[in-house]
Amino acid sequence: MCSAREISTMTEIVSTVAVVRDRVAAARAEGKSIGLLPTMGALHEGHLSVIARARAECGFVVVSVFVNPTQFPPGADFEKYPRDLDGDAEKAGKAGADLIFAPSVGEMYPPGDCTFVEVTGPLVECLCGPHRPGHFRGVTTACARLFNIVGADRAYFGEKDYQQLLVIKQMVRDLKFPLEIVPASTVREPDGLAMSSRNAYLSAEERKAAAVLSRALFAARERFDAGEREAAAIVAEARRIIQGEPRVRVQYLELREAETLEELRTVERKAVLAVAAFVGEARLIDNVVVAV
Ligand code: PAJ
Repeated sequence: MCSAREISTMTEIVSTVAVVRDRVAAARAEGKSIGLLPTMGALHEGHLSVIARARAECGFVVVSVFVNPTQFPPGADFEKYPRDLDGDAEKAGKAGADLIFAPSVGEMYPPGDCTFVEVTGPLVECLCGPHRPGHFRGVTTACARLFNIVGADRAYFGEKDYQQLLVIKQMVRDLKFPLEIVPASTVREPDGLAMSSRNAYLSAEERKAAAVLSRALFAARERFDAGEREAAAIVAEARRIIQGEPRVRVQYLELREAETLEELRTVERKAVLAVAAFVGEARLIDNVVVAV
């Protein structure tokens, strides 16, 4: 039997489009289905649980690790985003990845490159959209390329980045990408904080304070479960709790229709309560879905 270490050392790291296509073609020739988890690396248990799920559902699992410059608005944390490719490859391998695709910026965006993919309209005009100009355009541009490079049957996206998941689904629908987008539920720390590579930016005090976000979302969901249907009242409950934590500055806190992200006065259908907040330097996002 292989030990975890031996399994992990079998996980190949490749950096070029040509080699990924080669490896995927070989897996396909063996009759395997292909699963893809796009990531920016700094892998945590949230990522690893999705890799394990992909392992169970697909014959060959590709994890991309690419800190995508086009999705960072000017002045955001592109330079300081945590990078640890060897650590990531080891963790991903243990979780069940077959191949790590870690392209350089030049491989993804060679000189002369000038094509973007952009979802327009209401989905990108709310929540993170206005606060992070160009962000979703960068995400869809990178993911469209990854989908074309890997040719996966299934690509996994976390509900932690709820708006991203909807935007990607929209792009796949509109551009007729022949793959299934599989949503993966949010993995949390024991105190409720949604796992995120950006949690590494938090000091010990900030880390403690950050748990107020999920506490507030869960409390608001309890109000909903107890019968509250007025959006303003549900949001107010979450806001009240977050305001008790002076280290946390809310950027937005909104309840919206779960599929279209339209504004809501009364919750009559599935809805999402989404928050973005700064805790120290770190901008964190989280959400809960409430279902009627
Ligand atoms: P990244 O933040 O690395 O996340 C990669 C994937 O893991 C995303 O689909 C994200 O939603 C999922 N994920 C992150 N934290 C999670 C958690 N706590 N529980 C479950 N899933 C989680 O999102 C990106 O990278 C990028 O925007 C990317 C899609 C790779 C495009 O560059």
